[in-house]
Amino acid sequence: MEDSRTVVFRFLAEPTDVNFGGKMHGGAVMKWLDQTAYTCAAAWSGSYCVTVFVSGIHFVRPIFIGNVVQITARLIYTGNSSMHIALEVKSKSPQTNEYVMNTHCNMVFVALDKDGNKVSVPKWNPVTEEDKNAAEYATRMKELYRKFEASTKGLISH
Ligand SMILES: CC(C)(COP(=O)(O)OP(=O)(O)OC[C@H]1O[C@@H](n2cnc3c(N)ncnc32)[C@H](O)[C@@H]1OP(=O)(O)O)[C@@H](O)C(=O)NCCC(=O)NCCS
Repeated sequence: MEDSRTVVFRFLAEPTDVNFGGKMHGGAVMKWLDQTAYTCAAAWSGSYCVTVFVSGIHFVRPIFIGNVVQITARLIYTGNSSMHIALEVKSKSPQTNEYVMNTHCNMVFVALDKDGNKVSVPKWNPVTEEDKNAAEYATRMKELYRKFEASTKGLISH
């Protein structure tokens, strides 16, 4: 279901998207994830947005060429300039109506103005228990990332 914080893309897995094993290439899936999440973040913020972080990408099942691919991006948490988006990739044969889960991950986007400066985004207030759990998950991920960054001090040159 599409609403003001949800975007759904649907397309066919094309022969040009194939990997060496004959299934849909993981890189092609990642490109579509980024584009769906970008559309969700841009629609929510009304601004140009950039990807700042991708986490927890899990390729659960392969996607078959010729199948219908459905990507759902849902805003689950807003900071000041950042938007956390949860993504799910499902697919099905064009001849059936049963989708299976293929991939899921989370992405963080930052809204920028025309000069490339960060801008505030409208706040998302979780309402249902499910929404609150998703927002809580996003804050835990943010905390984990801060710890990870602190632990790599001196290992990664910024
Ligand atoms: C996005 C960018 C402008 C942010 O610059 P910055 O001023 O150093 O960013 P900050 O550290 O203040 O982070 C900006 C926001 O992102 C959040 N953020 C950054 N990394 C994050 C992470 N790993 N997890 C969660 N949130 C993160 C910060 O918490 C902050 O959120 P807030 O404004 O809601 O409080 C800069 O990192 C950039 O240009 N990155 C490259 C983007 C890009 O090229 N993407 C790929 C192509 S689209």
